[in-house]
Amino acid sequence: MGSWTRMAVLLVAVLATATLSTALINELEPGKDWPTRGSVKQPYNQTEALTVPTEAYTSTTELVEETPPNVKDELEEEITILARAAEAGNVKVDYSGAQLWKVSTEKNGVRVILGRLKRRNLISTWAGNQSYVDVLIKPNAMANVTRVFARENISYDIIIDDLQKRINEENPPLDVNEIELQDRRGHRMTWKQYHRLEDIHGFLDYLAKTYPKIVSVNTIGKSYEGKDLKILRISDGNPNNKAVFIDGGIHAREWISPATVTYFINQIAENFDEESDDMKQIDWYFLPVVNPDGYEYTHLVDRLWRKNRKPSFTGRQCFGTDLNRNFGYRWGGKGASNNPCSEIFRGSRSFSEPESRAVSEFIKTSVANFSAYLTYHSYGQYLLYPWGYDNAVPPDHKDLDVVGKSIAEAIERAGGSKYSVGSSSGLLYPASGGSDDWVKAQGVKYTFTIELSDTGRYGFILPTTKIEPVARESLAGLRVLASYVSKL
Ligand SMILES: *[C@@H]1O[C@H](CO)[C@@H](O)[C@H](O)[C@H]1NC(C)=O
Ligand SMILES: *[C@@H]1O[C@H](CO)[C@@H](O)[C@H](O)[C@H]1NC(C)=O
Ligand SMILES: *[C@@H]1O[C@H](CO)[C@@H](O)[C@H](O)[C@H]1NC(C)=O
Ligand SMILES: *[C@@H]1O[C@H](CO)[C@@H](O)[C@H](O)[C@H]1NC(C)=O
Ligand SMILES: *[C@@H]1O[C@H](CO)[C@@H](O)[C@H](O)[C@H]1NC(C)=O
Ligand SMILES: [Zn+2]
Repeated sequence: MGSWTRMAVLLVAVLATATLSTALINELEPGKDWPTRGSVKQPYNQTEALTVPTEAYTSTTELVEETPPNVKDELEEEITILARAAEAGNVKVDYSGAQLWKVSTEKNGVRVILGRLKRRNLISTWAGNQSYVDVLIKPNAMANVTRVFARENISYDIIIDDLQKRINEENPPLDVNEIELQDRRGHRMTWKQYHRLEDIHGFLDYLAKTYPKIVSVNTIGKSYEGKDLKILRISDGNPNNKAVFIDGGIHAREWISPATVTYFINQIAENFDEESDDMKQIDWYFLPVVNPDGYEYTHLVDRLWRKNRKPSFTGRQCFGTDLNRNFGYRWGGKGASNNPCSEIFRGSRSFSEPESRAVSEFIKTSVANFSAYLTYHSYGQYLLYPWGYDNAVPPDHKDLDVVGKSIAEAIERAGGSKYSVGSSSGLLYPASGGSDDWVKAQGVKYTFTIELSDTGRYGFILPTTKIEPVARESLAGLRVLASYVSKL
């Protein structure tokens, strides 16, 4: 190599290094990689978490919490409603006559009976805690389930008496004024409607174009069906900033989650200069739709779809893995299923899904040193910190509890909603393979799963009039988190 050539190579190398280390992420073209700075520290032992062997799927070892070990007679697997619809050829799933019941589980034996009904595919469960569960009764099962409840003297309240009616009323078209506004604004997002993925992605790109000094967008991978996993970053470029990662839409049907996360993005990007120093001194990373395939599916085919859309090739052919059971910390433990037809299927191994793998790769290799991770779900109004895999808490759980409680207070002051605060396994039930456990195990201090509104009146089918109130009070909570992050 001649000396000029050598010098040129050196110069290129120096320039490249300089570009990476100044980390002016906002100057990068969309789609280009953001710089990496090696992974964040990992205080918990990852080796043991990542080596749980993959078992072949067997019908009798489903790990759903309600499954008592001695019930073998009725072991028809729980089949997600969608599996059938997909088999029938993508007709929109109709929930006419389906009902939502709130059932107290305090009486002995109720959980066992519900588990049985679930495996016979007569009901599915929405959300619940240690004393209540919301149960969806499928229309053709109404007579049988009513009979079982009467025989067993189980009391219940009917919360929704015709689910399809609620679904039809949930997301009405925008009025003409709003549509006109949309056209003038340069993007289609409103917080008066639940939007399709295209509108959400268009909104992210619009912000990057409009505020290039502080906003940039990147694609951190693709979903199973090849849809972009788009992350938006807001940062003033100060190298002393802390970093916070926020995601939404891991579970497809929880529409209020992407709506809330995009509301945060809009408020912070559009009013950056008016935000507090605590808010401005954070590099914000937002991934509003972790599960774009599932999200689109809930708009087009089945409003109640939860998982991603990757078909399984083992055992019975069913679709989808529960991405929030697929993360690689204590993967394969309690509260997750090895049955591909289950709503809480954990996947064939940890990070078997492109969506969960992309999130973990991004967090591991990001230039950012994340101080907090918030993952938005619905519903139930809970602020949950690790661990989820079992009834245990991390060494700094008192810090998490303090921060969680002050976020909850801020939410209540701002909008009146009451949130319960606690560890997810303690307050709800064990669920292994959650994103929060894995991120916490990477050393990210303030890690919370937030179950947004409501507490069961509408459940997943929260009317669009609730988007702004829910998002606004959640933003008040986020500002409190920022104040704690700034003190680290
Ligand atoms: C992590 O766990 C693995 C498997 O249990 C063990 O072999 C290893 O020594 C542990 N490492 C640390 C640093 O504790
Ligand atoms: C459990 O759910 C019921 C019904 O939604 C609610 O009244 C109760 O407050 C919840 N318990 C906790 C600890 O949040
Ligand atoms: C309801 O119960 C009857 C009698 O036990 C049974 O024949 C029928 O298949 C059940 N219906 C459903 C939807 O499981
Ligand atoms: C059914 O439960 C109610 C309370 O939920 C109780 O008052 C009643 O005695 C019970 N009846 C039978 C037959 O167990
Ligand atoms: C990451 O942030 C924490 C505080 O949140 C700090 O203690 C630590 O030194 C930072 N690490 C790096 C590599 O900047
Ligand atoms: Zn969820």
